[in-house]
Amino acid sequence: MELDLEGDLAERAYPILASLVTPRPIALVTSLGPDGVVNAAPFSFFNVLGAEPPIVAFAPGDREDGTPKDTARNVRLNQEFVVNLVDEAIAEAMNACAASLPYGVSELQRAGLTPCPSTSVKVPRLAEAPVALECREWGTLEIGRNRVVIGVVRRVHLRDAFWDATTRRVISTDLHLIGRMAAPHWYCRTRDRFELRRPD
Ligand SMILES: Cc1cc2nc3c(=O)[nH]c(=O)nc-3n(C[C@H](O)[C@H](O)[C@H](O)COP(=O)(O)O)c2cc1C
Repeated sequence: MELDLEGDLAERAYPILASLVTPRPIALVTSLGPDGVVNAAPFSFFNVLGAEPPIVAFAPGDREDGTPKDTARNVRLNQEFVVNLVDEAIAEAMNACAASLPYGVSELQRAGLTPCPSTSVKVPRLAEAPVALECREWGTLEIGRNRVVIGVVRRVHLRDAFWDATTRRVISTDLHLIGRMAAPHWYCRTRDRFELRRPD
């Protein structure tokens, strides 16, 4: 089967690609509105893209009326955001944050999530997230109705149990992040792991 995304299937591009390019990590992005309200929203068009400097990117699509989502608007305002990673324990709270609330109304209380201070940015991270990446906006690309927000990671917060200070490595065995699967409602766990060593 060959699908032409430049032809009559163009309008199906989102469900087709979002169901095929899986699993995707989920960034539960916190950002600050002009009045200091903490906004939280999940984005699965998200990944880490490099290490020198350490960069991540996520892509909020514009709303139907062409206006940017609150997260994109806030990042444009103060050039900062925090990527909170999503494990099984906060999966439902993450989903609650996807509700469309009026600009300036926080998703946090409704989702049962707690903001806690970051160290290098003004935007709070989430206490319940197993990992949080404090980011400074490097730039935002505008490609059609997509915005691709690129950020440089300034600080990483992770639970003590996930860090081996001697080897300076992450211990990920108990880090149960979830992934996004077929659009719109499917997810996966990441408990079934296997090792594959690279050839010399
Ligand atoms: C798991 C998940 C992943 C999502 N990924 C994206 C995404 O990558 N891009 C996007 O524009 N919306 C995505 N959404 C929808 C947004 O989270 C939703 O539009 C949200 O209300 C935006 O909030 P904001 O206006 O506060 O930024 C996703 C929703 C869920 C539940």
